[in-house]
Amino acid sequence: MKIGRITISDRASAGIYADKSGPEIENVLSEFFGRELKFISRIVPDEGAQIAAALKDLADAEKCDLIVTTGGTGISPRDVTPEATKSVLEKELPGFGEAMRMQSLAKVKTAILSRATAGTRGKSLLVNLPGKPTAVRECLEILAAAIREGVAHLRGEDPHK
Ligand code: MTE
Repeated sequence: MKIGRITISDRASAGIYADKSGPEIENVLSEFFGRELKFISRIVPDEGAQIAAALKDLADAEKCDLIVTTGGTGISPRDVTPEATKSVLEKELPGFGEAMRMQSLAKVKTAILSRATAGTRGKSLLVNLPGKPTAVRECLEILAAAIREGVAHLRGEDPHK
């Protein structure tokens, strides 16, 4: 599986602090899906045009099976990840965000501040996650089974083989 990961943060992209959430995407997905994964990483500021361009590049040029973003899903003035993601999606999968919020809420009362969404572009599955490293793990645990099956559907494979 070829996976693009995008950290969306003004401060991480400016080198003001280290990106811990992007590497955590790799750690968690490697635990879930095994070591045979190829990752392509990007860090972009909270700018809609740059987020959309990175998503399109990883889907259309790099042909990633899965593209996971972290950050920019909240309601701060600079948070535009869901809008940028929706601008490049062909089919939205609102259930991904709904499941993250619903299941995270039981232990993280602020989980409903995330507007994360997901969907498809060509044969790529695009998934937003919140920005905290702990949220990356919590949300990928919730979504792992749907990601595995969704990627198989987009590749035209039988997910149960
Ligand atoms: N979801 C989970 N599972 N765990 C978390 O710690 N943090 C919340 C929410 N969702 C959180 C979570 C908080 S505090 C915010 S502000 C929103 O995600 C948006 O985060 P973002 O703007 O970094 O994407």
